[in-house]
Amino acid sequence: MLNGTCLFIRSKVILSGFIFSFFMITETTQAAQSSFDDQFSNSKQFLISNMTRPDAMAGAVIAAPSLRAPDYYYHWVRDAALTVKASLDLYQDGRLTEQERLTLQKFYLDHLKFNQLLQKNSFVGEGPGEPKFLVNGKIYPLPWGRPQNDGPALRAQSLIQYYQILKRENGTALPSITPLIYQPEWPNNSLVKSDLEFTAHHWQDLNFDLWEEVYGYHFFTLMAQRKALIMGAQLAQEFQDVGASNYYLQQVSEINFALDQFWNPSENLIAATLKTTHPTKSNLDSAVLLAVLHSACDGCSFSLTDDRVLATFQKLQESFSRSYAINANSKLGTAFGRYPNDTYDGYKTNSEGNPWVLATAAAAEYLYRAAHEFSEKNSIQINSTNFTFFQSLARSQKIVLNQTILKDSSLFKFILSELYGQADQYLERIIFHKNSDGSLSEQINRDSGYMQGAPNLTWSHASFLTAVMARDRTHARLKTKKVQQ
Ligand code: NOJ
Ligand code: NOJ
Repeated sequence: MLNGTCLFIRSKVILSGFIFSFFMITETTQAAQSSFDDQFSNSKQFLISNMTRPDAMAGAVIAAPSLRAPDYYYHWVRDAALTVKASLDLYQDGRLTEQERLTLQKFYLDHLKFNQLLQKNSFVGEGPGEPKFLVNGKIYPLPWGRPQNDGPALRAQSLIQYYQILKRENGTALPSITPLIYQPEWPNNSLVKSDLEFTAHHWQDLNFDLWEEVYGYHFFTLMAQRKALIMGAQLAQEFQDVGASNYYLQQVSEINFALDQFWNPSENLIAATLKTTHPTKSNLDSAVLLAVLHSACDGCSFSLTDDRVLATFQKLQESFSRSYAINANSKLGTAFGRYPNDTYDGYKTNSEGNPWVLATAAAAEYLYRAAHEFSEKNSIQINSTNFTFFQSLARSQKIVLNQTILKDSSLFKFILSELYGQADQYLERIIFHKNSDGSLSEQINRDSGYMQGAPNLTWSHASFLTAVMARDRTHARLKTKKVQQ
């Protein structure tokens, strides 16, 4: 059911007195706000349900509760790691009930044990890059796009994030859990050290992309590997594993160089894949956006506000707005797909691709987080790389090449307010197409707007949740700025 109504009308609410916003973000209507809150609560429940299936081994995360058309009843290492990361953000967000917190605490312990089993089982298969497992921990036995080396890197990120929370909580279980996560001894038998060692020694290997289709060298995978190694180097230090720490950082500097090769100045975009076996596939891909969202790191290249990333976002938006009928003449944000000319319709691979919920939520999350990052800068410098992005964002406001937009200017405030307001429109797009019970599939039919493909894809819910959490952080930042001054 297309149950969205007129949610996109936003009105400026003048906040009273001293909390008057310095940046003047445009507040959403009450209707939109409550639809985001309702969906947050629905997505939270669907997410936890997919992490705690009674018919799967404890600690497994199913990609979707769907046994046929399509069969997604498996534990994918990538989907699971991204889900765990989102759940850890939720765990710290303050909106979980006590019961949900307890459920997640138990899940995390089971998840460590389940991953020990996966690491052990993968050695009869592809090794750590084995992408997909049955829910009893056995390797998926049929041909598949193997290996996918983003998996171990994302899992390391998620388990390090978990360990950092555990340390802060400093509970009685910490001493018994720590050795499962990291031990400096060699040969290693701890989860994170295994993933880091694999990543540090194999990031140069060609492998399959996150969409499981293309063999090559991928921006998404390298970004995930770089962040895992940065987090891992810090963790290794804590365990006095100095040699490992230095080795990981050495790989990071080489990965930095490799990442720069993905920038294509003549097309003004970051390519998704190099050295590909599918040279005909478009190199414009939402995977680049996802890479930045999941694997941006402090002080690293390819931050959210990196001109090259802004330029790629703009290309994606322009391309998807033309590709899908549901994007015509709409005040809702553009529904994003994976990449132009995708042929996977959620059931068959030789069909016509559609917009994806997780890519559309990524567009929202990207703009919220970019607004946050820009609010920490003193100015925005317009250049030939970012010009089209800002020109389209600023609409009738005049933007010129080489212009410097200073923090105190009304244009700077307008830009921040537009980033936030447009991000809201992307979330409103998802609200408009979701099912009435809050379930979200993998895709949105490009012509009819109905949900399509794997029902209640765990990753769709995870991406909605992280977008809303990013929204809240940006809202707090933009609203309270004046008070802090
Ligand atoms: C083909 C799709 O393009 C790919 O992304 C997917 O993982 C597999 N089919 C399995 O669903
Ligand atoms: C297809 C997607 O392309 C891939 O990224 C994902 O891991 C699987 N479906 C499972 O959700």
